[in-house]
Amino acid sequence: MDMRIALVPGDGIGPDIVREAVRVLDRIGEIYGHGISYTEIDAGGISIDRNKVPLTPQALEKAAASDAVLLGAVGGPKWDAMPGELRPEKALLGLRSGLGLFCNFRPAVLYPELAGASPLKESTIAGGVDLLVVRELTGGIYFGEKGRSEDGQSAYDVMRYTAGEIERIARKAFDAARIRRRRVTLVDKANVLETSRLWRETVSRVASSYPDVELDFMYVDNASMQLVRDPSHFDVLLTENMFGDILSDEASMITGSIGMLASASLREDSFGMYEPIHGSAPDIAGKDIANPIATILSTAMMLRYSFSLEKEARSIEEAVERALADGVRTADIAKDGEERIGTAECGDEILRRLV
Ligand code: IPM
Ligand code: MG
Repeated sequence: MDMRIALVPGDGIGPDIVREAVRVLDRIGEIYGHGISYTEIDAGGISIDRNKVPLTPQALEKAAASDAVLLGAVGGPKWDAMPGELRPEKALLGLRSGLGLFCNFRPAVLYPELAGASPLKESTIAGGVDLLVVRELTGGIYFGEKGRSEDGQSAYDVMRYTAGEIERIARKAFDAARIRRRRVTLVDKANVLETSRLWRETVSRVASSYPDVELDFMYVDNASMQLVRDPSHFDVLLTENMFGDILSDEASMITGSIGMLASASLREDSFGMYEPIHGSAPDIAGKDIANPIATILSTAMMLRYSFSLEKEARSIEEAVERALADGVRTADIAKDGEERIGTAECGDEILRRLV
């Protein structure tokens, strides 16, 4: 298969971790006989420096012309004082919306070897943590009308959803649940928000075509509590854009391994954008310290969702699992006394275990 991949290394540790992910992809290409070509795109702070804007129309076009996008991270203190429209984060939002990537999958998995890194008690995570946050990514309050009054002393951000937007993401969640543990929990604030009531109505309707999947509902405040009380309750957690942003950070933390978690942003066809869920960690950029595993696992998601290459995806995931079992640890996941290796060496260790 020929794959044309757009690379968006971005800022901070982005280039460090994307480099390792590309080495892994190249080796997969060699082993399984796929041709992989890359085109690099500036987005985020680096694009602000070079082009004065976080994302140029040309960059978006290049991304759209590829089969899939691999993104490192964007942002950093250097650009924190920029006005809202010119912040590096705007590049991410522009890519998501410009590419129509309405469906965000954020798996949170507790690796048994790293259980000690979870801030939760051993008894709380004894049932395991293996959940998938399905976050709506191109609607809601992130993209609603926003503004200020003339005197600047009042501001608004509108949360709006259509039944169509809810239905398409709900189907993705139910489809995902079918190949998992067959439970969808819709997280909302239906006791207060009208948009949430539309979510419940619409998701309930979609659920009737999935009689084999159990649906339950949870208010977002309660869900944030249940996540730390009994994370094993959750299989697929379906939710709107902003709640998904917040809950996916919480879900990732309970696994203790924010440097390990990958994500996929998808639409109806096979195109997708893949990125680690962690940020750009500017304090450790370029120092060969960052954990590349989340980005490497993002390439596994890319192979699975954009190219239907399940065997190749599993090869990467299994190489990571074996490396962890063999004690491979970057600083963020090492316990006191464990040997810590750098970004490139971590890449080497995973490369060696690809079959
Ligand atoms: C995320 C991030 C982004 C978001 C920011 C950087 C715009 O927090 O991907 O979760 O809020 O969606
Ligand atoms: Mg976030």
